Amino acid sequence: MSFKDYIRVIPDFPQPGISFKDITTLLNDGDKYRQAIDELKKMVAHMKIDLIAGPEARGFVVGAPLAYALGVGFVPIRKSGKLPSDTIEIEYDLEYGKDRLAMHSDAIKPGQNVLIADDLLATGGTISTSVQLVKQLGGNIAGAAFLIELADLNGRAKLPGVDIVSLVTY
Ligand code: PRP
Repeated sequence: MSFKDYIRVIPDFPQPGISFKDITTLLNDGDKYRQAIDELKKMVAHMKIDLIAGPEARGFVVGAPLAYALGVGFVPIRKSGKLPSDTIEIEYDLEYGKDRLAMHSDAIKPGQNVLIADDLLATGGTISTSVQLVKQLGGNIAGAAFLIELADLNGRAKLPGVDIVSLVTY
């Protein structure tokens, strides 16, 4: 079965008109979850990666195992108010709503090559904000890796010049 067969689609969640791509059904299957991470590892093999950064919460379940598989470090990007040390923060627009993303100021050293990983590329707001955070600390963007890309929302337009890979596209 394909990866799509393991992703549950929930109509009108969390708001009417939003067709939610639920990856919990993929995560629930150990073999398929591992296959998904292994496949992403292959898709980013051409990139030079020193670190992976992933936005909470679903970016952690993609970024952390990918970092483990590649043998590189992981940087959590969190909603404002969650990280305990000094942070840099940027406000951004979500597919539904507004929020602030934060990263520890000492998480990335200038010149490090950072892959951004998340479950989903929708409008691209989360990832373009993550890219800005990494760049603010002097990091280079190695690329961006997703389980799912929603092509209609054209998130790629917000990421000019970024090498983007995604496992499945809707
Ligand atoms: C979701 C998803 C991506 C982002 C994609 O996260 O996990 O991070 O939205 O949308 P975008 O491309 O339009 O920015 P959400 O902020 O809902 O947080 P969660 O992972 O904690 O549920």
